[in-house]
Amino acid sequence: MRKQIAAANWKMNLTLQQANALMDELLATPHQLKDSQEAVFGVPFPYLINIKNKLAGKKNVFVAAQNCYDKKAGAFTGEVSAEMLKSIDVDYVILGHSERREYFNESHAMLAEKVNLCLTNGLKPIFCCGEPLAIRDAATQNAFVENQLKESLFHLSAQQLTGFVIAYEPIWAIGTGKTASNEQAQQMHAHIRSVMAKQYGTAVAESISILYGGSVKANNAKEIFAQPDVDGGLVGGASLVAADFAVIINSLK
Ligand code: 13P
Repeated sequence: MRKQIAAANWKMNLTLQQANALMDELLATPHQLKDSQEAVFGVPFPYLINIKNKLAGKKNVFVAAQNCYDKKAGAFTGEVSAEMLKSIDVDYVILGHSERREYFNESHAMLAEKVNLCLTNGLKPIFCCGEPLAIRDAATQNAFVENQLKESLFHLSAQQLTGFVIAYEPIWAIGTGKTASNEQAQQMHAHIRSVMAKQYGTAVAESISILYGGSVKANNAKEIFAQPDVDGGLVGGASLVAADFAVIINSLK
């Protein structure tokens, strides 16, 4: 079975004290991970080492950075490289979140470079894609998402994409309380898998974990995750509440 993943994206929230309290509370809240399941915590850069240490020895639990730079090293004040993240034992890196594409003008080409740098450094990307409302209203979301995958991932080899993680996050569902319906999520996830299958074959496509993101909550995670092509979620707001995220972890297939 491909990996089922509950990934938290804390975004730019929480002080260190609040982050520690949240993690302590979550660790004290009953949640269980089977062998095929993972919990991933996408925390702000300054807390990565600290949260990683808190999770030491816990099975199938990992940390993620929320970004990295698209250059290897050098005079790029304020940026963080993939190599730096690897040197502190980060596991995953969230790449191409719609907030980064929109507010920081991240292009397909930049994201392709970031993916390359992560893979070169042994970091696992969580590659985000997803359409804005106008595209959904025009019913052109399939072509839009296919293009995002093509432009930033299709230079990779089948081997590099085996076991890869993609997160589908329709922008109109992020932080709005408006989730995609189970059918909308399943339909797009099946489309993403078919796009990958067309390019790389069924075995590769079947190995890719495709997470859904956009207003995943404790009360809807189970039904969304139950869809055959939904392999867990990338969760914003609800990952900031320990009891809710524990329920979301327990909702994995
Ligand atoms: P919300 O769960 O707050 O809608 O955020 C989703 C998201 O952007 C996760 O990356």
